[in-house]
Amino acid sequence: MIIGIDIGSTITKAVSVEAGVVTRQVKTKAMDAVTSAAGAFGKMLIENNIGMKDIERIMITGAGAGKIPDTLFGISTENVGEITAIGIGGIFLSGRENIIISNVGTGTAIIEAHRNKIVHIGGSGVGGGTILGLSKKLLGMSNFNEIMALAESGNLATVDLLLGDIMNSDLSFLNKESTASNFAKMLDSAALADIALGIVNMVYQVIGMLSVFAARSRNIDTVIVTGNGGNNPIGVRILQIISEMYAIKFCHPDSAEYTTAIGAGLSGRNVQDIFL
Ligand SMILES: Nc1ncnc2c1ncn2[C@@H]1O[C@H](COP(=O)(O)OP(=O)(O)OP(=O)(O)O)[C@@H](O)[C@H]1O
Ligand SMILES: [Mg+2]
Repeated sequence: MIIGIDIGSTITKAVSVEAGVVTRQVKTKAMDAVTSAAGAFGKMLIENNIGMKDIERIMITGAGAGKIPDTLFGISTENVGEITAIGIGGIFLSGRENIIISNVGTGTAIIEAHRNKIVHIGGSGVGGGTILGLSKKLLGMSNFNEIMALAESGNLATVDLLLGDIMNSDLSFLNKESTASNFAKMLDSAALADIALGIVNMVYQVIGMLSVFAARSRNIDTVIVTGNGGNNPIGVRILQIISEMYAIKFCHPDSAEYTTAIGAGLSGRNVQDIFL
């Protein structure tokens, strides 16, 4: 059995891989890389009754991977470049030969993946961490699920300047409900729920449009959205609107948040990132 561990900037995930099949997934949150990796590894073993002798090796990736020693509890560890891990995970979960991957984590990385070539196209600092950071100051809230629940009842029209605010008709393929400028209206009467929705909307509109441009530039019509932000229900709805406007398909795998750990677990030894 191989354990793939992804030490993310916010959350650490671990998966077990047996004969090319992902058999288990766990996640944990800790302050530093070593505690995170050891904690996720321990949780995987204890919760699933796995013995140390069952583990062949540990494949480690993510922001904190460089801080992990060559062995963990006597089992050798291998470093996998994060871009490569996301690429392999995205190809595996999409079941496609070529795909654009938008990995929505704390920040967002956009990757073009083919079976034999993985390219880091770019990305944005706008991601899940942006939702948490802005919510802390603008809403006085730090719990992700509570922020999302609040945003569900929000009204964007009090926060965003919509096309209908400045035009009487549609503008090419944009309708009157389209955002002309995020947060540009910001009425004094806007409720906290409206601001919460404005934050989530801005983050996913940025991610959606970057994904569309990336996909079009590579002649690929499908984007797989991975990372913890891959299955955010409001995010999925916003990306669906963008999908219809720009004819780019977004897919949201169940194991989205484990994509990077899965890619690490499935990769060969000593895989490096490929930057072109
Ligand atoms: N229960 C939760 N607790 C904390 N963050 C959550 C939760 N649910 C969703 N999130 C969101 O997920 C984001 C982290 O996503 P993810 O775990 O994919 O990133 P990461 O791998 O830690 O970071 P990166 O890949 O950017 O280094 C947080 O910034 C937050 O917006
Ligand atoms: Mg990540």
